[in-house]
Amino acid sequence: MKFFIDTANLDEIKTAINFGFLDGVTTNPSLMAKEGISDQETRIKEICRLTDGPVSAEVLAVDTLGMLAEGRRLASLAPNIAVKLPLTMEGLEATKTLSGDGVKVNLTLVFSPLQALLAAKAGAAYVSPFVGRLDDIGQDGFRLVEEIIGVYNNYAFDTEIIVASVRHPQHVLRAALSGADISTIPFKVIKQLAYHPLTDKGLKEFLADHEKAAKK
Ligand code: G3P
Repeated sequence: MKFFIDTANLDEIKTAINFGFLDGVTTNPSLMAKEGISDQETRIKEICRLTDGPVSAEVLAVDTLGMLAEGRRLASLAPNIAVKLPLTMEGLEATKTLSGDGVKVNLTLVFSPLQALLAAKAGAAYVSPFVGRLDDIGQDGFRLVEEIIGVYNNYAFDTEIIVASVRHPQHVLRAALSGADISTIPFKVIKQLAYHPLTDKGLKEFLADHEKAAKK
């Protein structure tokens, strides 16, 4: 499973790259706003200078022509841009055109397997089911991922599944168990993945035992 980081924060991206297992970055308008960024293009270029992996940059337009113009502009910023579009009828129409022109599209805000089927048929490179937001309304977000995998396994689609709206390590584990292609993970959760209290306790004990032996 590939690991993307879900952030627009450069320090978080740099740290995750240094961890050694970062495959890409996803951003969205809320993550940009959290960083106080209104000039998305400058930040996207900065992120693309840090990594060769795919960097998802989301359009703000909601009409097809606007998405096409904005998507093409974003795609021109760097060779590793994936243009992120919302899964609406307009987004699907823009996906078909952009994908036909060789632009990678990440269809986002996906909450049903049928939306994911449409994304694949439109030629999207990525589809992003939001598991955490489904959990938030009392549904099992991972049932959606499993259903998408089930649908995609019946056909020869190239669309990769990005498990998005990840809130905790269990989401990452379930993504890996389900066989999803990618998990896009907030920095806080990336750090949690490496943590186990017994690792810390065991390490403390090893060092204390070594100290004791050294004093004898
Ligand atoms: O990249 C979009 C997605 O991961 C959003 O997550 O936590 O705002 O539902 P969240």
